[in-house]
Amino acid sequence: MPDLRPMVKEVLLSAYAGESMAQTRYRAFEEVAEKEGFRNVARLFRAIAFAEQVHARNHLRRMASLMSDQKACGGAPVGLGTTSQNLKLAVDGEEFEVNEMYPAYLDVARFHNDKQAEQSFKWALEAERIHVELYRKARQHVEMGEDVHIEGAVWICSVCGHTYVGVEAPEKCPICGAPRVKYVSF
Ligand SMILES: [Fe+2]
Ligand SMILES: [Fe+2]
Repeated sequence: MPDLRPMVKEVLLSAYAGESMAQTRYRAFEEVAEKEGFRNVARLFRAIAFAEQVHARNHLRRMASLMSDQKACGGAPVGLGTTSQNLKLAVDGEEFEVNEMYPAYLDVARFHNDKQAEQSFKWALEAERIHVELYRKARQHVEMGEDVHIEGAVWICSVCGHTYVGVEAPEKCPICGAPRVKYVSF
């Protein structure tokens, strides 16, 4: 594996922190949704939390050679409100990742020709695009006082975090190419 360039390390640490916090935040949001009776929204938070865990793990893997203490700082929406408010924070966070963070981080990885970091950021960016849509839709329903409908299950690719709602997981992951067996259902 090529040496980790300083700027690539910086953005990997930031993405690692951001994804780790997203995972924790969504699990907290899941508890609130469950209490408010939005069972499918809770499921969505639980599933997407797992996707963020996959992203954090992939970023971590690129830093495997560091073997030392590092300060990992990442920006993240903080707050714990009602499910409607939490979904607003979730949409904001995902939009930031899609429109600001990952495109810029991808440029850093590409500039330094770091293929593994590039792949890790690319996989995350593709999954976050789907998260924005799923959270937006869930928010519309919750605003009307109803739970979101989930046809089948929420499927997460354990390799790249691809998120899919349906009766069956895709035969092949459209983001990373992993086979169906790699999907986890929620
Ligand atoms: Fe996400
Ligand atoms: Fe995948």
